[in-house]
Amino acid sequence: MSGRVRCAVFPVAGLGTRFLPATKTVPKEMLPVVDRPLIQYAVDEAIEAGCDTLVFVTNRYKHAVADYFDKAYELEQKLERAGKSELLAMIRDVLPRQVRAVFVTQAEALGLGHAVLCARPVVGDQPFAVLLPDDLIWNRGPGATRQLVELAAREQASVVAVQDVPIEQTRSYGIVATRDFTGRHGEIRGIVEKPRPEEAPSTLAVVGRYVLQPRIFGLLESTKPGAGGEIQLTDAIAALLAEQRILAYRFEGRRFDCGSRIGLIEATLQYALDDESLAGPTRELMRQALRPAG
Ligand code: G1P
Repeated sequence: MSGRVRCAVFPVAGLGTRFLPATKTVPKEMLPVVDRPLIQYAVDEAIEAGCDTLVFVTNRYKHAVADYFDKAYELEQKLERAGKSELLAMIRDVLPRQVRAVFVTQAEALGLGHAVLCARPVVGDQPFAVLLPDDLIWNRGPGATRQLVELAAREQASVVAVQDVPIEQTRSYGIVATRDFTGRHGEIRGIVEKPRPEEAPSTLAVVGRYVLQPRIFGLLESTKPGAGGEIQLTDAIAALLAEQRILAYRFEGRRFDCGSRIGLIEATLQYALDDESLAGPTRELMRQALRPAG
């Protein structure tokens, strides 16, 4: 695979119905884990992986995401006057200077594959990363996207992040069949979106991180609606398999499904326990919360 991965695509046009009523006005990507919105974690991970062009595929209800990455003049002035330089640096660092954000509208919610296709005019003819911000991946070492990008460069192939899931959960994920699994990666020989457990080719589930060749766009153009009546990225990846080598990669790190309420709670606890100033009080309140009432 030639070329550095510079573009990261963030499909953020989903409805977030599992978090209603909050998501009536707050996009799910703006829900916080401790003090940062989910989208910020994904953006930081892409930047750490070397991406300098961030493509947000949004819909007309998601102004909050664009506002978040915009400059907040009034707030900056206030913090500057008050001498609050740390907070000032924090809100300026939401997006480093060398990174550009591009917003693309997905007019109709036609599925993840369609959302990725909407990024084509910005990405053009180069390999790119896709990050689904709902999947929050915590790791002490290099972020998941960086791990994928490095493997993609080394192996000259597209790479899809995977993790093992219980068999009864296959219907919530893209599931891959692989061959020649050595260490953390193996070649994908089949991929299917949300199969029933009895039809799943394995229990290796796709997690929301991909490094893809631009050929995927051409294939997405002709991808028909699949599971759930949506244009699925998984189906275009299945078509790409017929032409190119694609690797499944068991990333290092812990993934939280922040598209679900319990996943968001779990992530919040993990990040709180990982924060020097919050770890002690969090442990204490967990002890108290678990104490029998009375
Ligand atoms: C999407 C993909 C699916 C993948 C999942 C990971 O599904 O279509 O293949 O396994 O993300 O989170 P969604 O969760 O958006 O329904």
